[in-house]
Amino acid sequence: MKLYNNPPLINLLFIGAVAAQDYPSLPPWHPPGSSDVRAPCPMLNSLANHGYLPHDGKDITLEKTIEALDTALNIDAELATFLYNNAITTNPTPNATTYSLNDLSNHNILEHDASLSRADFYWSGDAHTFNQTVFDETRSYWTGPVIDVQMAADARLARVKTSMATNPDYSMSDLGSGFSIGETAAYIIIIGDSISGTVEKSWVEYLFENERLPAELGWSRHTAAATFATLNDMMDRVENATGPLASKVRRVGMHDVPRRRTVMPLP
Ligand code: HEM
Ligand SMILES: *[C@@H]1O[C@H](CO)[C@@H](O)[C@H](O)[C@H]1NC(C)=O
Ligand SMILES: *[C@@H]1O[C@H](CO)[C@@H](O)[C@H](O)[C@H]1NC(C)=O
Ligand SMILES: *[C@@H]1O[C@H](CO)[C@@H](O)[C@H](O)[C@H]1NC(C)=O
Ligand SMILES: [Mg+2]
Repeated sequence: MKLYNNPPLINLLFIGAVAAQDYPSLPPWHPPGSSDVRAPCPMLNSLANHGYLPHDGKDITLEKTIEALDTALNIDAELATFLYNNAITTNPTPNATTYSLNDLSNHNILEHDASLSRADFYWSGDAHTFNQTVFDETRSYWTGPVIDVQMAADARLARVKTSMATNPDYSMSDLGSGFSIGETAAYIIIIGDSISGTVEKSWVEYLFENERLPAELGWSRHTAAATFATLNDMMDRVENATGPLASKVRRVGMHDVPRRRTVMPLP
């Protein structure tokens, strides 16, 4: 529905009239319909479900990406543009300037093995759909009510080790590795606290399991913008907490590009 492309308008129209489970500070949440497409990314799926991104998940432009990540999450335009530039490489159409959320699942472009909540592509060709078994392994390393950098790093490393030990087709490009570390850093920064490096476990579980922003649990958009510097710092902290195995994986892509201000090399 057209109105969903305009979350602030929705809020103005329906404030006070939304169903009890909707939070007036956020646009209403609707699960995907049968012709809507979604991503292997719990956050982009949440943004589409809330209507910050097109609810059908299709043909997303740079302008829409910048607006959605800013309005919903206070991510700055430089970081949003970087993510968009990577996202369009997953669209099979040559020289595409838009992406659809399901394009992001195309294996071994951005989508990588050892995800926190998705199975490896090798098993059934589905690295796209939320998988509770996989997520339960991840969650088992979040050993308290508050996830810290060490727990987050341990969970990611455990998934890498499981995939390396069980998937004969395991692969992780430098770009995939950068995204993997970046995704762990991202849930700490965007859902939690980029200074303390901590995040409420229940909020992260809510995001992954419901594909919805955890406003009803107390989360709100941060007042300080998340930038490349924020992300790089948290990626360094995650990598440091990961120990020797991480340093074997040369980290390029998400990490180095913003510092060099160059164009992302493709794997
Ligand atoms: C345009 C912006 C974004 C793009 C193109 C993007 C793309 C992706 C892709 C391709 C994956 C799948 C990687 C894999 O696990 O194989 C992914 C996963 C993930 N993304 Fe995003 N993402 C974006 C924004 C965000 C933001 C803002 C967050 C903040 C929390 C986020 C958090 C995550 C997390 C935590 C995962 C890991 C899921 C898992 O391992 O199961 N993403 N994203
Ligand atoms: C895509 O861009 C490249 C380089 O700019 C150009 O050579 C090529 O013809 C374009 N392809 C299409 C299908 O437009
Ligand atoms: C979830 O992942 C596990 C472990 O990789 C796999 O055995 C199982 O088949 C997956 N479940 C579904 C429903 O795909
Ligand atoms: C990571 O570890 C190195 C070496 O111990 C240290 O110099 C650096 O400050 C650490 N970085 C972060 C972000 O903790
Ligand atoms: Mg994956």
